Amino acid sequence: MEVITIGNNKGGVGKTMQCYQLACYLANKGHKVLVIDLDSQANLSSSFGIQIQRTLVPEWLIGDVGVEDVIVKPEMTGKLYKNIKIIPASRHLANLSKLLILSEGEIRKEAGRKERLLKKRLQDAKLEFDYVVIDTPPMLGDELIMALVASNRVLIPTQAQDYSIDGLEELMDTFEIIKETENPELEFSIIPSMVNPRRKIERVRMEELSQSFQTTPMIRNLVQMQESISTRRPVCIMGAKSAGRIDYDILWKSLNL
Ligand SMILES: Nc1ncnc2c1ncn2[C@@H]1O[C@H](COP(=O)(O)OP(=O)(O)O)[C@@H](O)[C@H]1O
Ligand SMILES: [Mg+2]
Repeated sequence: MEVITIGNNKGGVGKTMQCYQLACYLANKGHKVLVIDLDSQANLSSSFGIQIQRTLVPEWLIGDVGVEDVIVKPEMTGKLYKNIKIIPASRHLANLSKLLILSEGEIRKEAGRKERLLKKRLQDAKLEFDYVVIDTPPMLGDELIMALVASNRVLIPTQAQDYSIDGLEELMDTFEIIKETENPELEFSIIPSMVNPRRKIERVRMEELSQSFQTTPMIRNLVQMQESISTRRPVCIMGAKSAGRIDYDILWKSLNL
């Protein structure tokens, strides 16, 4: 089972889009995929047609309920969705950090450190999935750190703006600490996201980015991508000539997915 986190402490860079497209792409190839939404805004859950009143994810992480109490099926029908299950989010997830502090004693006894909780729960549940794909909130908080500890790799969508690239350093510092202390196998890929290649400034920034980091092929800024989310048609089932599908096919291939 490969666990892939999509993370960036900046918002609006295309994390949730990437999670949706990746989960659907893998499912369409016939893999069994578990999607975990760790962002209390629950945008990814909505993309799969799911809106829940109150997620039990904090209770699951703490060990009060089992995984069967948090996993649901996507609302949509269709072949690829049969291969997907989802652990959705809701507003309540915003209380996670507080709840973890309240349960500190129990967590220490059981998992040692709160950072290890998600990894432990995924191991305990002995899940029969080929892939777990995790969406995370736009901050360096417990959700992202737990996801990084539990993952084999992290995909980092990054926009061409200066401030987006500056924020990367903070994220990379966290990544290095987790690699040294909890998860030496963790790998990362920086993915130029929502790029408008016709703008010179973006081309220059992308060039600079690729000098500091190894970057993957880019995902362009395309109206079609927004439509893909709103009509709930992932690009992997669009025509072979559709620009969104072409970008993502090249990206996934470069990542051996
Ligand atoms: N490649 C793209 N082209 C055009 N719009 C995109 C693209 N990727 C994401 N978007 C749109 O940009 C907005 C932010 O993307 P989102 O995935 O929600 O970012 P994040 O999860 O990082 O906050 C959303 O409205 C989304 O539909
Ligand atoms: Mg998001």
